[in-house]
Amino acid sequence: MPERYLITAALPYVNNVPHIGNIVGSHLPADIFARYCRLKGRETLFIGGTDEHGSPSEIAAQKAGISPKELCDTFFAIHKEIYEWFDISYDNFSRTSKPIHHELTKSFFLELQKNGFISEQKMHMPYCLKDKRFLADRFVEGKCPHCAYDGARGDQCEQCGSMLIPSELIKPICVLCKSTPEIRETTHLFLNLDQLQPKLGDWIEKNTHWKPQVRNLAIGWLKEGLKKRAITRDLKWGVKVPIAGYENKVLYVWFDAPIGYISSTKEWVQNNSHLEKKDYELKKWWVDKNTKLFHFVGKDNIPFHTIFFPAMLIGEGKYNLPFQIGGYQFMNYEGGKLSKSKGHGVFCETFIEGDKDALPAEVWRFYLALKLPEVRDTEFTWAEFESRVNTELMGNLSNFINRVTSFINDKKNGEVRKPKKMNAEDTELLLQIKDYVDKVDKLYDNLEIVSAIQTILELSAKGNQYFQNNAPWKQFERQDAVLYVCASICKALGVMLTPVIPKASGKIRNILNLPKEYTFADAIKPLPENHKIGMHEILFYKLEAAKIQELKEKTTKLGKVEERIGKHKAHSDH
Ligand code: 2FM
Ligand code: ZN
Repeated sequence: MPERYLITAALPYVNNVPHIGNIVGSHLPADIFARYCRLKGRETLFIGGTDEHGSPSEIAAQKAGISPKELCDTFFAIHKEIYEWFDISYDNFSRTSKPIHHELTKSFFLELQKNGFISEQKMHMPYCLKDKRFLADRFVEGKCPHCAYDGARGDQCEQCGSMLIPSELIKPICVLCKSTPEIRETTHLFLNLDQLQPKLGDWIEKNTHWKPQVRNLAIGWLKEGLKKRAITRDLKWGVKVPIAGYENKVLYVWFDAPIGYISSTKEWVQNNSHLEKKDYELKKWWVDKNTKLFHFVGKDNIPFHTIFFPAMLIGEGKYNLPFQIGGYQFMNYEGGKLSKSKGHGVFCETFIEGDKDALPAEVWRFYLALKLPEVRDTEFTWAEFESRVNTELMGNLSNFINRVTSFINDKKNGEVRKPKKMNAEDTELLLQIKDYVDKVDKLYDNLEIVSAIQTILELSAKGNQYFQNNAPWKQFERQDAVLYVCASICKALGVMLTPVIPKASGKIRNILNLPKEYTFADAIKPLPENHKIGMHEILFYKLEAAKIQELKEKTTKLGKVEERIGKHKAHSDH
């Protein structure tokens, strides 16, 4: 039975617009992997959506003077536009505010309760006397009790990743009015993580194929011992708790958000009306053991995807557990942390405002994919962006393909002839293509995307060198062999780069006049006998210093998102 691949990228909050760090932390690597799976001919489904509930949206809406729903509508549209601009190939991109998600979350909760994994407990929570409300999660900030970071939020410390409860914060303050809250008693529902720990622990132990940075974190939390965790909140905006006595509370956003992966899949099943057996289709993706579930998340989300959500899934009992968690470190920007509030970084709304084609998305995809923080934090710098685009994308790759294909068109009437004679170097290089393709295949499969791209670029550099050394413009008797080997390399490069730069790969396919639907295996299939290629074209242009300057000015200024919220407000005031 062939394996099926269900791929998810962390559902972004919609109280803000993503910066490039958010793109490299989930959407881009998930997209590259999904495209790789499709290219391998695997049955693949790539699921995403927005995470709309919780304190962040409620706070942002309150600050903007609009309702959470209005805020989320505006940001959902912006997020969707950005991911489309980046060519993130979601099969379905849903929203957790949709009824389909609320219904599924409620039944998931009831199932957990039925299975005995929910309990009720009294809690001491910060209450703001001025705002007359309990301060759930991000409504309160203070010092982290684990790492002493000053801006820790009530639910999690950004610095050390620890999950927190608001009453643990040292010197808490209300984020709305900055006053010190008092502590009051209130009742909440809890997920019995302590009870789920044995099964969860066995499962984590068995996942020896996880990356050390993900597995070690998970084992670390297990060692500390899991405690019951509150899954209800004193908030208005969220999924209602489907039991009596909880009318004024909602389910915790981290409880409902990961269920969003399932509800988004369910929505996809429903929207694809050709899928007659809808129940069967959903089970196929979430219950059938032949499906491998892959989550792509930033490092601050790792505890939720290795501990919290799997525990929920174990407790519910029906669904598959994740097979792999691609956990990404952070991408820094020019010597500091990417920060929207400090205006330090590259901000994605600028890509969709004004000149949308200031630079094709593929150039960004290429550089960002090379800088994926797979093992440790990486850093975006404009100087490196310029040099890597110019030397690797343009100077190495684009240049090689253009040199070879324009030569074939100009001097050989577009024909790649099967060589009558090949020397040892030709045969050796032709054989090496297979080694490169096999290596890249394994690297992609193992989520080592950066190394996969570096290996592809190595083959391209080899091709360039070989073309240069064998100078087909001088050594006429060598032309057929050299051009055959080079065109074969171009084909392999085009196929292998499809997950990273799909549009440019499509162009390479056109230039080489290859069939539209090709698969990873085509990378090493020999070219047809005396193959006629298509018209050559330049894939990427050199980035001039002035262009970099212009881009930098455009993309590092915060966009005009506030205006869009303002428009929404003016609209709803009428
Ligand atoms: O960190 C975030 O942006 C969260 N909204 C991620 C949620 S992932 C999933 F579980 F939905
Ligand atoms: Zn307050």
